[in-house]
Amino acid sequence: MNIKTRAATLQDLEEIYQIEKICFDSSDVFHKETFEFFLSKESTIFLLAEKSRENRKGNALVVGFIIAQPKLKSKFEIITIDVHPDSRNKGIGKLLLREIEEVILTRVKDEKRDYFIELVVYENNHNAKKLYTKMGYRILGKLNSYYSRDRDGLRMGKKLLKV
Ligand SMILES: CC(C)(COP(=O)(O)OP(=O)(O)OC[C@H]1O[C@@H](n2cnc3c(N)ncnc32)[C@H](O)[C@@H]1OP(=O)(O)O)[C@@H](O)C(=O)NCCC(=O)NCCS
Repeated sequence: MNIKTRAATLQDLEEIYQIEKICFDSSDVFHKETFEFFLSKESTIFLLAEKSRENRKGNALVVGFIIAQPKLKSKFEIITIDVHPDSRNKGIGKLLLREIEEVILTRVKDEKRDYFIELVVYENNHNAKKLYTKMGYRILGKLNSYYSRDRDGLRMGKKLLKV
């Protein structure tokens, strides 16, 4: 599969929102306005994965995306990562995570302090937990009732290694 990543723009909003609605239960879906906010915010890193196969409009097809946001002085938070169900378990999640880590590294490479990347995952989201673990993230703690319907979250994170 020919997959490329690039920065998302406001023109991608509709495709992003459609993928979000397929990936999550309605109670957990981000509003369109939330994506609009992140797409417009300069500090946010918002990447897409797209497949060269063409859609009806003749464009490449968006198959996944990832969002990261700087947090406090020395952290970035992965806000979400979504891969369309038809394109899962083919390495796209790993690709998106690797790419966003690269972008973060480029942003902070001249800073003296250490940087950390963190995220929260639903504790029963085994696929996502496997992806993060494979990418070097470790569990930092439990967040009781973090999600709707009293579901617990796990905070995971890793130190960004500057080379
Ligand atoms: C979590 C998610 C992003 C993973 O994306 P993906 O493209 O399928 O992930 P990858 O193919 O890169 O897989 C990475 C690793 O995760 C594990 N994994 C992912 N999907 C899996 C599946 N369906 N079954 C078993 N293992 C799986 C594998 O260990 C894999 O490593 P490997 O290829 O070395 O064996 C995707 O399942 C998804 O969009 N889920 C819905 C949204 C979501 O829950 N996001 C996380 C929010 S915190």
